[in-house]
This record gives sequence, C-alpha cells and structure tokens, in this order.
Amino acid sequence: MTDGVNKSLLSATLSNEKGHVVCNLTFIIPSRATLHIMLSTVYQHHSTTPPCDHLLFDILFSCGRCSQQHFLCPVEGDSSRSQANMSLKAVCVLVGETVKGTVTFTQASSDSPVEVTGTISNLTPPGKHGFHIHEFGDTTNGCTSAGSHFNPAKKNHGGPQDAERHVGDLGNVEVGDDGVATIKITDSQLQLTGPNSIVGRAVVVHAGEDDLGKGGFEDSLTTGHAGGRLACGVIGITKQA
Ligand code: CU
Ligand code: ZN
Repeated sequence: MTDGVNKSLLSATLSNEKGHVVCNLTFIIPSRATLHIMLSTVYQHHSTTPPCDHLLFDILFSCGRCSQQHFLCPVEGDSSRSQANMSLKAVCVLVGETVKGTVTFTQASSDSPVEVTGTISNLTPPGKHGFHIHEFGDTTNGCTSAGSHFNPAKKNHGGPQDAERHVGDLGNVEVGDDGVATIKITDSQLQLTGPNSIVGRAVVVHAGEDDLGKGGFEDSLTTGHAGGRLACGVIGITKQA
C-alpha cells in the first residue's frame, strides 16, 4: 500500500464470507483531492476531483488474490447512498385475527446473508407453520393481496436450503407449548437492497406446515401446501442498530 492510502484509511476489517476472506477498507478522501489508491501491484484506481467534502470509499477485495469484487463510492451527506457502507435493517409487524408477531431483518452489507429474528404469538401448539416472503407489500384485501411467494428467478417452491426455491421460501416456524414461535434464521438468498430487495414486500405465516416442495400435493411446488394465511405484514425500513 502507498503512504497516501495509509493516511486516509479510516478502518480496515477482515471477515470470512462464503468461504473466502474479505477485506473491508474504508477511506475518507478530503475535498477536491485527487484520489490515487494502489492496493497492490495488480489493482489500481485513479479518480479526480471528488464532488463532495468527503467521499467514503468502500472497497472489498479478496485477500491474497487481490481481485476486485465490489466497488462503491457513496457520498457522505446523501443518506441513502452512504448507507451502502452500513448494516441494513428492516422490520415487519405481523397482524392476523389472533396471531401477532414482529420480524426483524438485518444485513451487514449487500454481500452478506440476512439474519431473520423475531417472535410470533398466539399460534396453536404443537406444530410447524409455513413462513415466507410474499411478492406484494399489499394488505388491502388482508393477506390475500400479498400475492404469491417472492420468486424473481421463476423457480419452483422449495425449502430454505434448496437451490431450487423461491427467494421468499424461508421454510417453517415451530411453535412452542406456549403458542410462541421464535425465529432465528440466516438466509443467503434474501436481500435488503438492490432490485431483488424484500423491503416493501410481505411476510406471511400460514395455518399449515410447508412441505418444502416434497409433499406431492398439487400445490407443493407453488406454495408448499401450507394452507391459509394466519397473519401478514409489510416489510419496512427501520432505524439502523
Ligand atoms: Cu406463504
Ligand atoms: Zn415458495
């Protein structure tokens, strides 16, 4: 690394994502400075005259190989863009006739898996209930108007661990004796940003168990044969942690 990079380096962290180490470097570049970053002999970037007082530069690259994977330059002061460097957080309040719940979605960066946590109460124990992201954040006609499972890749319904699944297929939640289901899911297909973001779509909890596409029913490969919709809610952006 050059001295120029070291002077403006704000933070550097290492994380292990999807089996390879990723370096996250954050730089602050002074107003109207000429940016010249040399990360290695094989990777180099030049830019002139940043438009704002501070430019946050976020570069991810694979350690060792130093191949560029991801390149963002959000401008400080533009909150929607500068959040590209922060963890993303969304929340959904589930409302049904009796079933209630809250589900939180957190994603450290656009390359990270989404952590889904929360609780759903007033379910009838024991058993499992289908738990999905549906395509529309529309509850004008109750949970029906949430539409089908969110499925941008036009695949068949499946389980959360399957390659062949809808993006919205999160499997089942399991109810305890107290009628409460505790959710703790890590999912690599959900996104809180970009064209396939789930923000603005809906969470639906079903009356029956999702057969993960393997039940052999007429609707196993579309809905997992999970039955009626007990509760739903729209996923919205919430305050960052
Ligand atoms: Cu569903
Ligand atoms: Zn599905």
